[in-house]
Amino acid sequence: MVRQVLGRYPALLALLAQLGATALIGALVYLAAQFAVWRPSWLLAGMAQGLLAACLGRCFGLSRWWWWLNLAFVPALLALSGAPLPPWVFLAGFVLLLLLNWNSFGERVPLYLSGAKCRRQLAGLLTRQAPDFSFIDLGCGPAGTLLWLARQFPQAQFVGVETAPLTFAIAWLRSVPQSNCRIRYQSLWRTDLSAFAVVYCFLSPAPMAALWDKARGQMAGGSWLISNSFAVPGVPADQQIELHDWRQSRLLLWRMPG
Ligand SMILES: C[S@@+](CC[C@H](N)C(=O)[O-])C[C@H]1O[C@@H](n2cnc3c(N)ncnc32)[C@H](O)[C@@H]1O
Repeated sequence: MVRQVLGRYPALLALLAQLGATALIGALVYLAAQFAVWRPSWLLAGMAQGLLAACLGRCFGLSRWWWWLNLAFVPALLALSGAPLPPWVFLAGFVLLLLLNWNSFGERVPLYLSGAKCRRQLAGLLTRQAPDFSFIDLGCGPAGTLLWLARQFPQAQFVGVETAPLTFAIAWLRSVPQSNCRIRYQSLWRTDLSAFAVVYCFLSPAPMAALWDKARGQMAGGSWLISNSFAVPGVPADQQIELHDWRQSRLLLWRMPG
């Protein structure tokens, strides 16, 4: 029961990791103050806490982005509350967020990532295709899912399109060693879908109706449109697969009529 609740709410596990790391590092700092001459600075203690919290998060089975959150949480709090940071740090943070979330404003599609369960389900579905199938991820983000799939299916061709500048740069760099995967700086609305056996997207409710019209107009008969979580208004999916993750995600599949 406890395991089920914790598995369903990763924020609780992250909190446990934070509390455990804080208790342990707090005890070490206390002991150092009692018995040793050397005393760590608050920032150093915070960084050790972050490192331990990230390791605990990993042991608890949290997904990767939680490790980074656990790592940075307390050090960031300490840095922001204690040190007078120069204004450019805030400007740099803002620009970084802007370059990563470029599409949140115009397209209303922010950056969040497909999880491990989704990848495994996609891989299972792709085994039904001919070995040299072609796959596209519309808004591929940093291309984690795309590259993982490209490694599983070396004979198939994978394409990602992305328009957030920094996200695209990361995806492109990561794809360089993977010969069956190409990343384009291109809007999904300018991408021709006719050559792809499988079109995957994880966007938001906002573009789904227009995307359906585009897919119906361009995709070949027998090809598949797969949407992570977001439905097409008024068009029931041909198949739905629950992913049983903390987001309650599901894959929705439509087979294009021949
Ligand atoms: C929710 S993320 C999904 C990332 C990745 N596909 C995954 O499943 O892990 C959506 C991505 O779509 C990108 N995006 C939004 N509108 C786009 C557009 N018109 N053309 C290309 N990419 C777009 C965003 O920048 C973001 O990286």
